[in-house]
Amino acid sequence: MSSWRAVVGVGGGIAAYKAAELVRELARRGIQSQVVMTAAAQEFVRPLTFAALTGRKVITSLFGSSPEEVLASSVEHIGVAREHDMLVVAPATADLLAKFAHGLADDFLSTLYLAFDRKVLLAPSMNTVMWRNAATQSNVAALRARGHVVMEPEEGELACGESGSGRLPEPARIAEEAHYQLARRHDLDGETVLVTAGPTREPIDPVRFLSNRSSGKMGYALAEAAAWRGARVILVSGPVELAAPLHVECVRVETAREMRDAVLAHLPESTIVIKSAAVADYHVANVPAQKIKKTATRLPLELDPTPDILAEAGAEIERAGRGQLLIGFAAETENVVGEAKRKLKAKRCHMVVANNVAAEGLGFESDDNEVTLVTQAGEVIDLARAKKRELADRILDEALRLRLELYSRS
Ligand code: CTP
Repeated sequence: MSSWRAVVGVGGGIAAYKAAELVRELARRGIQSQVVMTAAAQEFVRPLTFAALTGRKVITSLFGSSPEEVLASSVEHIGVAREHDMLVVAPATADLLAKFAHGLADDFLSTLYLAFDRKVLLAPSMNTVMWRNAATQSNVAALRARGHVVMEPEEGELACGESGSGRLPEPARIAEEAHYQLARRHDLDGETVLVTAGPTREPIDPVRFLSNRSSGKMGYALAEAAAWRGARVILVSGPVELAAPLHVECVRVETAREMRDAVLAHLPESTIVIKSAAVADYHVANVPAQKIKKTATRLPLELDPTPDILAEAGAEIERAGRGQLLIGFAAETENVVGEAKRKLKAKRCHMVVANNVAAEGLGFESDDNEVTLVTQAGEVIDLARAKKRELADRILDEALRLRLELYSRS
């Protein structure tokens, strides 16, 4: 796991306690925190909470209490600024936003901000009227114009009893944004990546459906990885439990037909198309308007094939001739490479990602996977067992190589 270091500045708002969860979420992502608390933050949460979570001394003031501490701390903000990759402030109160926007430096956090020349991520939280106030909004605009990332506060009930925009974004979301800002690369800048993910759901009647075990994890990992490498990402997702990754446009669908329509609608603007969805192969021929009643006899279900979206996309990409890259998936339980080669040809893909869904502890619901890439040129590339998020980057490495080859030919 990569190792980044972030200063986590905690402002004095009721959401200060959520910064403890943020520190844990950052650690889960390999980002170490040095916590700095304002005096107001210490009215809400004790520094000990953060010291215990991070195993490091929490910085609480610009000047220490003893003469030695005063001497040591008088340049500490410079040292702290140089040693960290990012400054994350959560909650960023109206007061902190104003101080940062205007360059005031009357405590450790605001002084550190002025001495900090790397990435800055601010997660505001305040009363909704304070957030909407023109003074706050112009401070936010000034901070964004400076290149800082200011997250939008969430809507909902606020501690003051009013409701509206002003809640601190979920700590997991702030950590995801921090990770994205730190890990961001640019090798897919200018590409539009269309990813399909998850299962489809084909209705049997108004309350029942046919579906499969796909969790959507591989597709979501691909969507996130592509976005983190600079691509515009359109994620067409069947019903799954996962939250859409940040910076991804998510189109939610249920049936194979809806997925087909969404894919074809976004196909012209896409440069790389990755079809990781486990599309249901059949749908019920005539779906009754009312719930099917139980009887004591056998219930026959008549099924018709669903549209093969990958094959349709393959035909359309070939017709358009614009150097778009098409990647299919093949979920197999036997003869994995042979089946992948057959599907690659039949569906006119440039690459097929084949996985053995019968393998123990791998495949649909797992966080890990082990896949074989089969390309149009006949290459067979085995990717060893790894986290789906790591494999996503490896698949994109190969996709980028093939896309550049195609683009130079088109
Ligand atoms: N696929 C699709 N539309 C379908 C069925 C599959 O677009 N109606 C796509 C999947 O998204 C995947 C690839 O085709 O990228 C292969 O899916 P898979 O289920 O392995 O293959 P099938 O073509 O359905 O063949 P089979 O089930 O017989 O193995």
